[in-house]
Amino acid sequence: MSAALPNPVPGVGDGLPHESAHLHVTGRATYIDDLPVPAGTLHAALGLSAIAHGRIRHLDLSAVLAAPGVRAVITAADIPGVNDCGPVKHDDPILCEGEILFHGQPLFAVAADSHDLARRAARLAKIEVEALPALLTAEAAAKAESWVLPPVEVSRGNAFAALAVSPRRLRGEVQLGGQEHFYLEGQVACAIPGEDDTMRVLTSTQHPTEMQHMVAHALGWRVHQVTAECRRMGGGFGGKESQSAQIACIAAVLAQRCGVAVKLRLDRDDDMRITGKRHDFHIEYDAGFDEDGRLLGLKLLLASRCGFSADLSGPVNDRAIFHADNAYYLDAVDILSLRGLTHTVSNTAFRGFGGPQGMFAIEMVMDDIARELGKEPLEVRRLNFYGTSDATGRNVTHYGMKVEDNVIEPLVDQLAASAGYAARRAAIDAFNAGSPVIKKGLALTPVKFGISFTATFYNQAGALVHVYNDGTVLVSHGGTEMGQGLYTKIRQIVAQEFGLPIIDVRLSSTDTSRVPNTSATAASSGTDLNGKAAQAACQAIRRRIAGFVAERLGVSDDLVIFAAGMVSAPGFDAPFASVVADAYKARIQLWDAGFYRTPKIHYDPVTMQGRPFYYFSYGASVSEVAIDTLTGESKVLRVDILHDVGRSINPAIDIGQIEGGFIQGMGWLTTEELVYQPDGPQAGRLATHAPSTYKIPAVSDLPRQFNVQLFDNANVEDSIHRSKAVGEPPLMLAFSVFFALRDAVAAALGPGTRPRLDAPATPEAILKALKGGRL
Ligand code: MTE
Ligand code: MOS
Repeated sequence: MSAALPNPVPGVGDGLPHESAHLHVTGRATYIDDLPVPAGTLHAALGLSAIAHGRIRHLDLSAVLAAPGVRAVITAADIPGVNDCGPVKHDDPILCEGEILFHGQPLFAVAADSHDLARRAARLAKIEVEALPALLTAEAAAKAESWVLPPVEVSRGNAFAALAVSPRRLRGEVQLGGQEHFYLEGQVACAIPGEDDTMRVLTSTQHPTEMQHMVAHALGWRVHQVTAECRRMGGGFGGKESQSAQIACIAAVLAQRCGVAVKLRLDRDDDMRITGKRHDFHIEYDAGFDEDGRLLGLKLLLASRCGFSADLSGPVNDRAIFHADNAYYLDAVDILSLRGLTHTVSNTAFRGFGGPQGMFAIEMVMDDIARELGKEPLEVRRLNFYGTSDATGRNVTHYGMKVEDNVIEPLVDQLAASAGYAARRAAIDAFNAGSPVIKKGLALTPVKFGISFTATFYNQAGALVHVYNDGTVLVSHGGTEMGQGLYTKIRQIVAQEFGLPIIDVRLSSTDTSRVPNTSATAASSGTDLNGKAAQAACQAIRRRIAGFVAERLGVSDDLVIFAAGMVSAPGFDAPFASVVADAYKARIQLWDAGFYRTPKIHYDPVTMQGRPFYYFSYGASVSEVAIDTLTGESKVLRVDILHDVGRSINPAIDIGQIEGGFIQGMGWLTTEELVYQPDGPQAGRLATHAPSTYKIPAVSDLPRQFNVQLFDNANVEDSIHRSKAVGEPPLMLAFSVFFALRDAVAAALGPGTRPRLDAPATPEAILKALKGGRL
């Protein structure tokens, strides 16, 4: 076969800028709200519920309809097809059916001449409701046995017996908060009716195919009547995997009713009130261990707040179970996962997809064991790492998958050395001994994260590659761009296959009419899946071009090479563009589709055993923090990260993902707090529904020293160019910030203490921990 040589022009492996960087920084990158709309486009707004649970007694929308500029008002009854946008269980009403399920639930929608007129009109509704008692927390749901999906229990060995005979044992519990996605571009869709009952939906979504399906169902149409398109999102982070559907469906139903385009763009406060967030968890553990700190038995309770519907809560909580080991071998273990139905927003995918919550639980157990034994936490963590061979008897996960690519020990060794962990531990102890008010803390935490969708059928992708007869290339694929750099990496992969400079390759928007049946861009597998599909399409085209050249020259195909913008063979050297022009005239097909499905993976969703992941990504981080024991304020002083992205396709993008993921994780565990009104007439109202009260990290929160290195480690599996997925795993590197804060609190409280520190570790939470649980 013909070959792609290492590209002498920048390509795979080079830290090229994001393909839209020049547009981002000059404000010329178009997001849906920037796109020109057809004449007569209407703008939509939503009327929201002001109670958490109850029944609509009377909904009088006459004043809304009579308001200036209003063209249509719809309720659930006006949805021509199915009033549902749930991705799995189909329990997600697009508009309220009569029973109000959360504070902020959309009850009706208005289309008007302008965004402002629509919003003003939506406020004029007269709504009579009958309030019912509301369940608001994971704990309350667990107590009431209120589930969106039945509890799941996974165990290996006999945890109860192991606990009973363990030399040491401890119990604990901790609250782990949720997280608002805070994508910079809020949820938005623009639905444009076409001829003969068709609809084009521009949607800010990670999952165009699902938007296409949901819109078709809502309209009572068939799938080929709807096209969904997304060029880029201003961030998704999981929040636009399923939850973009409600927005797309409402825009489409209004557009179909009015016969003109309708745009629905949520205001930030509404976006925060209406859409689901990261699941918050109530965690309980009972751990048995030996005097060295080796875990012998573990019972874990993972109770999550799913909200009013199932959404993606099944797979999210499954991933929490799969990641309750993090990098540690759990011998006898029993994990009970509760999926609480509450009268709050329907919580959803968020970077890590439940993995972070499961991993946090085991990190808390490790930290507790170390504190109980008076040992250095890193020592206890190391002792419990997975083994690297069958001989260790410690290399199979609790879901029956053998860990074949374990690099956690060398990775942690390298990081501990480069970060000067041991010396800094001693320095911090000395500092703390002489500092009564300010206390410092240090922690090193590992990350092992499974790559692949646990829903096995999602691990497939398609791409469509066009080589035009001037030698330029246009690529479509099923993945979406949300800032993570997927399009940039695909561009590099395609350029490499043809030996072209990247300027010759352009990416088109993601569009269900070009590549069908796409999977969500999620589970960090965008490049793994779509990169391989695009590569396959390129190789098919290259084979044909090589065959054409070889036949003319009378040489074998494999002597034809593509590099530096040229096609070459012995005694032949011509620019790609001219070869392509000749091939076109010789009627050679210059475009093709590619398809990929991940090999090796299988898994039984009933027993939860198998190989759900193609491989693991690894990383570790060291954080040093300081707390003020009088105010509870904290500061991250220094962070060192070593992270495994396999053989990087683009180190600049990968480092960006690592830094961004880490900071986002740090926000989750420190400053970002979702507060729901606990009781009273406003019970269940999200009090932190705007940046005034919901605090994501600011530039000033960046660690002053922030060292990020890539770990040199080609993927042992045949992934695209032996790279590894990078989108989600770095978020969990932020555990080191949380456990460094806990270390500082413990330093204030004295040796042997196991402070109860809940996440997020806000100043209030830190003060509470310092005061033994009371403020
Ligand atoms: N990076 C940016 N800039 N914006 C995002 O919305 N989403 C994250 C991650 N990195 C996100 C991001 C999430 S949740 C996932 S699953 C992956 O990107 C998805 O893209 P990938 O599969 O191409 O890595
Ligand atoms: Mo990411 S949470 O898988 O969209």
